[in-house]
Amino acid sequence: MVDSARITQFKALKGQRKIVCLTAYSAPMAHALDAHCDLLLVGDSVAMVLYGMDTTQGADFDMMIRHGQAVMRRRQNALVIIDLPAGSYENSPQQALASARRVLDETGADGVKLEGGSDIAGHVALLAESGIAVLAHIGLLPQHVSSKSGFRITGRTAEEAAQLAADASALSQAGVFGVVMEGIIEPVAASIAANCSVPTIGIGASPACDGQILVTDDILGLYDAFTPKFVEKFADLQNDIGVAAAAFHKAVVSGTFPQKQHLFWPKK
Ligand code: KIV
Repeated sequence: MVDSARITQFKALKGQRKIVCLTAYSAPMAHALDAHCDLLLVGDSVAMVLYGMDTTQGADFDMMIRHGQAVMRRRQNALVIIDLPAGSYENSPQQALASARRVLDETGADGVKLEGGSDIAGHVALLAESGIAVLAHIGLLPQHVSSKSGFRITGRTAEEAAQLAADASALSQAGVFGVVMEGIIEPVAASIAANCSVPTIGIGASPACDGQILVTDDILGLYDAFTPKFVEKFADLQNDIGVAAAAFHKAVVSGTFPQKQHLFWPKK
């Protein structure tokens, strides 16, 4: 597989400095985040965060492609990766290839993310051989969870820890350019990060990962339906929106908005 310049740059960050990744689903968000992120993920979390669905399984091709196109309109430098939606790649390597090609052809993004371990190493190998950049996602796999209460941390037993290590190794050998590790107990995630040949990106995993990813709406305090323990809020935009809406309400009701400068007048 021939790596694009962006993928090569991303991989070169391993061991140089921590890698910064966030989700983006819209053009203005991509514009705001681009200068601060190495990777923007058009995650299927969009189904929960923007559409109010209970799980990520409600995301479909049209949703992922539309949001991918929006993000690509405003990205400048960051790598843009799009989640293949649940049900679009698991059946066979050929199904995964057709789905990845469709998403990349219609958006122009840099690569796709697939959830799964050694079970999808054959799928990843075919994509990589076909020149498609793949980001892996192991550990807690939201596409396999049927309700919010089903989110479960992994790596607690010796069997789980060994499986996760085997997954990371199989996927790296198959040609992924990075591995997202979600909801994995810290020592297991740290050990995988230390032994993995490609960048590892943690989410509820370990500071020893090569980088971190969170859902942007979580760090902004915009998504309030469910806040996992691994989230840190860096802003409280739900509250700020309420404050702004209340000020607008007051201005409209009191007649202080609109003012002369907001109006259109006959030309002199
Ligand atoms: O869909 C998503 O946003 C993700 C990240 C949380 C890793 O998969």
